[in-house]
Amino acid sequence: MTPHIEAKKEDVANIVLMPGDPKRAEFIANTYLEDFKCINQVRGMLGYTGFYKGKKVTVMASGMGCPSIGIYSYELFNFYDVDCIIRIGSCGAYTENLDLYDVILVENSYSKSSYIEVLDGEKINLIESSPFLNEKIKEAASQKNITLQQGNIYTTDVFYASGDINDLYKNKNCLGTEMETFALFYNAKKCGKKASAILTVSDNLITKKVTTSEERQNAFKTMMELALETTLLIN
Ligand code: HPA
Repeated sequence: MTPHIEAKKEDVANIVLMPGDPKRAEFIANTYLEDFKCINQVRGMLGYTGFYKGKKVTVMASGMGCPSIGIYSYELFNFYDVDCIIRIGSCGAYTENLDLYDVILVENSYSKSSYIEVLDGEKINLIESSPFLNEKIKEAASQKNITLQQGNIYTTDVFYASGDINDLYKNKNCLGTEMETFALFYNAKKCGKKASAILTVSDNLITKKVTTSEERQNAFKTMMELALETTLLIN
């Protein structure tokens, strides 16, 4: 047990899929996992461990923002011996070339967040996802005929400040914005572990198109299934 996770160590798989929303973790367990049990309820940050096509997988929510995913990923990597975390989240798109529900594989997270500086005193703005996991995600996507967009993402600490879109899109290759990958990718690097992120476009900051929360639950199935299929390619 840790201050924030009540699971027993043996009840957490070495690969964790991490949506932001606890309800989405519950939905994934109910929809896709067999023989699953709830392994965390502390602060409502629901986690479930079960089997997907025979593979042991944990699905646990991260909450919103770097401080929140920073806590859970740190504890999972350090105290539960988790090797891989794949974030499955949503993002706001920075270009009209991206449609609602498009799926993005994140190459690097760019951020002005102080997360890394506070943790380790280093001024770093760009942190990469795991090339190993990304290859597995691409392999699963091609097996399932899923189209993946690839690029960087801007991790903001403030939802209502989505950055200088023009600069971030044109000069930093950021396809959109979300709030968690920067801390997740850094924790993985710091702990010698692996993390990547698959994001579904939930809103478009240029066209102003948005999804409803009900639409999101089902339409995010492509991303969920891609992440689950990826786990089958990892030992
Ligand atoms: N901004 C930040 N985070 C997000 C967004 C957004 O527009 N959409 C989904 N997550």
